Amino acid sequence: MTNAVQHGSGAFCAKADANDEQITLTVSNGGQPIPAAALSTIFDPLTRAIPSSNSARASSGIGLGLFICRCIAHAHHGTIGVESNESETVFTVKIPRFSMRTR
Ligand SMILES: Nc1ncnc2c1ncn2[C@@H]1O[C@H](COP(=O)(O)OP(=O)(O)OP(=O)(O)O)[C@@H](O)[C@H]1O
Ligand SMILES: [Mg+2]
Repeated sequence: MTNAVQHGSGAFCAKADANDEQITLTVSNGGQPIPAAALSTIFDPLTRAIPSSNSARASSGIGLGLFICRCIAHAHHGTIGVESNESETVFTVKIPRFSMRTR
């Protein structure tokens, strides 16, 4: 959500949903799309997708936020992905739900 404010523009939207199998979290924002060439490495540490964000505010980060998000998603056996185009940028985290069994 910090990224949506820092790197996006206009309103952003955060949603949480769940079914029996998984929890889905999405954060979407408008603004310039992330360049297609950057999408495959954007979750790597110390990576920034210049020139999608060229304001002083947007360039102040060090490129660790999405890497940490991916670590958290993986620690929960989940995934994180991104889709970005002219209309919106959407990050989606999916985390599987495990049934609670008494031993
Ligand atoms: N919601 C978004 N909209 C547009 N671009 C984004 C968005 N989130 C991330 N980016 C791009 O991906 C890059 C990497 O994001 P990441 O959160 O890993 O690092 P950062 O925000 O630059 O720095 P940090 O999170 O360490 O303060 C950003 O620099 C930005 O270029
Ligand atoms: Mg960030």
